[in-house]
Amino acid sequence: MVVSIKRTMAAKTERTFIAIKPDGVQRGLMGEILKRFEQKGFRLVALKFLQASEDLLKQHYIDLKDRPFYPGLVKYMSSGPVAAMVWEGLNVVKTGRVMLGETNPADSKPGTIRGDFCIEVGRNIIHGSDSVDSANKEISLWFKPEELVSYKSCAQDWIYE
Ligand SMILES: Nc1ncnc2c1ncn2[C@@H]1O[C@H](COP(=O)(O)OP(=O)(O)OP(=O)(O)O)[C@@H](O)[C@H]1O
Ligand SMILES: [Mg+2]
Repeated sequence: MVVSIKRTMAAKTERTFIAIKPDGVQRGLMGEILKRFEQKGFRLVALKFLQASEDLLKQHYIDLKDRPFYPGLVKYMSSGPVAAMVWEGLNVVKTGRVMLGETNPADSKPGTIRGDFCIEVGRNIIHGSDSVDSANKEISLWFKPEELVSYKSCAQDWIYE
């Protein structure tokens, strides 16, 4: 019983790294994107608005360093400010990716963020971690531990059984 309660608690504190890319910021979509995560019931743990350095972005997309679009991707991501966020909740990594839609907006269903608000893969407005492991890496790359805010959400008991 105690073990299963602990397991449930751990699942609810899964975290993902979400970033609104420079095109999402410039097109005035920050509020809409925050609203979707907020209204879903996920809990905001950290949020910052910054001009990311090229070094940070190269590191963030290091797994793609051999892809032909890598230099263009780093240039696109450093072309303006981004909104970097950490969201928490049950299955937030996987569900976050579903909310984003497919990498290529053309394959993204209406109702998803990329399906509703963008057209081309190279201007797909938002990033979301693709696994719990990469979420943890990305969170520690973009945020200092003290920037992750600890608080109790008053809606928690209305969102989870
Ligand atoms: N063929 C491509 N041409 C141009 N840009 C691309 C292409 N494929 C991917 N990208 C860019 O690189 C990003 C990272 O690609 P990745 O394969 O990690 O997709 P993703 O996980 O859906 O996106 P992200 O990591 O940004 O959430 C994409 O979101 C997109 O901006
Ligand atoms: Mg990715």
